[in-house]
Amino acid sequence: MTNTIAIGIQWGDEGKGKIVDLLAPDVDVVARFQGGPNAGHTLVLGDKKTVLNHIPSGILHEDTLCLIGNGTVVDPKRLVEEMDMLIEACIPVTERLKISERCQLILPYHRSLDAAREVAKGKAKIGTTGKGIGPCYEDKTARRGIRLVDLTSDDLDERIDANLEYVNFMLVEYLKAAPVSRMEVDAMLDLARERLLPLAADVPLILQRRIKAGDSILYEGAQGSMLDVDHGTYPFVTSSNTVAGAALAGLGVGPGQVDAVLGICKAYTTRVGAGPFPTELYNAEGMECPSGKHMAEKGNEFGSTTGRPRRTGWFDGVVVQHAVRINGVTGLAITKMDVLDGLEEVKLCVAYELDGERLESVPACCKQLEAVEPVYETLPGWSENTFGATSMEQLPANARALLKRIEEVCDCPVTMLSTGPDRSHIIHL
Ligand code: GDP
Ligand code: IMO
Ligand code: MG
Repeated sequence: MTNTIAIGIQWGDEGKGKIVDLLAPDVDVVARFQGGPNAGHTLVLGDKKTVLNHIPSGILHEDTLCLIGNGTVVDPKRLVEEMDMLIEACIPVTERLKISERCQLILPYHRSLDAAREVAKGKAKIGTTGKGIGPCYEDKTARRGIRLVDLTSDDLDERIDANLEYVNFMLVEYLKAAPVSRMEVDAMLDLARERLLPLAADVPLILQRRIKAGDSILYEGAQGSMLDVDHGTYPFVTSSNTVAGAALAGLGVGPGQVDAVLGICKAYTTRVGAGPFPTELYNAEGMECPSGKHMAEKGNEFGSTTGRPRRTGWFDGVVVQHAVRINGVTGLAITKMDVLDGLEEVKLCVAYELDGERLESVPACCKQLEAVEPVYETLPGWSENTFGATSMEQLPANARALLKRIEEVCDCPVTMLSTGPDRSHIIHL
């Protein structure tokens, strides 16, 4: 395997964890380049399920080095909990994991700000995961963030004091929320110093050495392209770039060090949190279409991190085409094909209509995206069971026809098809 970026190309939760875990034995390094504990990547091996927030999805494999890049935001408490969960399962995580000394730390005040801002927004809230992601990335851009390497710095105390003065003013005076104490922040910093600093490393140096030695790298994204802060459904997005290009900046590698981009998407669409979703059929707020309910129930569509019910809808070819373009996707990995088993018919959105005009790409304006009508093609469904299929011959003709149409609409070959949550439920095309 060459150097591949594996990313979600819808609104997250496409099955990145499963795909990265199954590809990991064929690579030497798996590296996360953005996001933080907002991610929940699920790995299933037999009856054992592992959900990872920060740690790359290659961690279960003995010979795979896992790297957390500078583009990520790390919650020390959550990462230590994650490490301990793996250690308890006899995974020698400290031997397999390195963390960029340049990654940003999520501190208690980031979570408080995230929560208080959502409350203040009322009905207009983003529906964030509440993990402090936005405020932490804001601090990074504002140049007041605290990085892992800063734990050894002489001026750390002063910088924390200055940050707390500002944050507590915002929390108490403006957002009418409780202040954050210095003690809480210090406890987090102590934990990071004790458990994370020993794993701090110069990640670009490690990567360059590995690449020079002929090792292959799998760059693992979090979230999905429609949650990208530039290319997604702004402002209903996360606060980082989630597209393939972010892998370079988020790890410190060059464009020549990437050979392929694997775009991971479900055979239908889901979204958690607020924001436009043109092909939506079903949600917890009362949208009740039976096909959407089928996807939600059969697909067990609940957030891996937050447990929130996911909104569901038909495959949106306009969204996936958009993602293929902005990421330079070279192959699609379609997941959760088995969830469509038993539907009488399956729809595929091939364009949008807005005020009588046909749109072939995603409008930048959220209000417009909310107003579009999907243009659907309807294909016959199938009653056969595809769960766990490992070869194309096991798929009914109608499922194969859907895949072919997805390839045509999205102008991209399907190279992997996932037919169940387990590592073994896969068809390589
Ligand atoms: P990620 O954030 O992209 O890694 O995705 P999540 O782990 O949040 O959500 C994907 C969910 O679908 C997890 O519960 C996976 O175990 C499950 N899953 C992944 N691929 C398949 C598949 O092909 N079929 C079924 N039925 N479940 C799958
Ligand atoms: P993985 O990596 C699905 C969504 C949130 C919210 C918006 C902003 O598991 O695919 P944030 O907490 O990032 O400020 O929330 O982004 N979101 C995700 N949705 N999967 C994720 O990660 C997500 N990470 C963030 O629901 O709408
Ligand atoms: Mg997830």
